[in-house]
Amino acid sequence: MNSRRTFFKMLAGALGAGMLLLSGKRATAKNLGIKLEKVPALQKVGGSAKLKLEGQEILFIRDSDTSVRALSALCTHQECPVTYDSKKGKIECSCHGSFFDLNGNATKGPAKKPLRAYPATLKDGSIVVTVD
Ligand code: FES
Repeated sequence: MNSRRTFFKMLAGALGAGMLLLSGKRATAKNLGIKLEKVPALQKVGGSAKLKLEGQEILFIRDSDTSVRALSALCTHQECPVTYDSKKGKIECSCHGSFFDLNGNATKGPAKKPLRAYPATLKDGSIVVTVD
């Protein structure tokens, strides 16, 4: 009797663990490489380009000879696409007039939350961006 009860307890535990594994979402970060030769707009400082990576719209901004920024291309107000204005040095959303700085911080509303920033590096003619 005791062994039968123990067996069912073990079975219930195993099923529960299995359910957790099946339902659990894992955030797995991926480092993705992008060759600059494939994105001419990012070959010069001040250039920008939107790329869809792992289902996420990302705005890349070439902010110096040695670096690039990677931010969500969707406004945090109501998810309109944002664009980079190299003359103003700002990211803007034309839907309701929000502005963001190059760190993604909202500098003019109605958007209040920052754009998501993705870690990105530029080295040897390639961008490496971390996306999950
Ligand atoms: S969606 Fe960008 S300001 Fe409203």
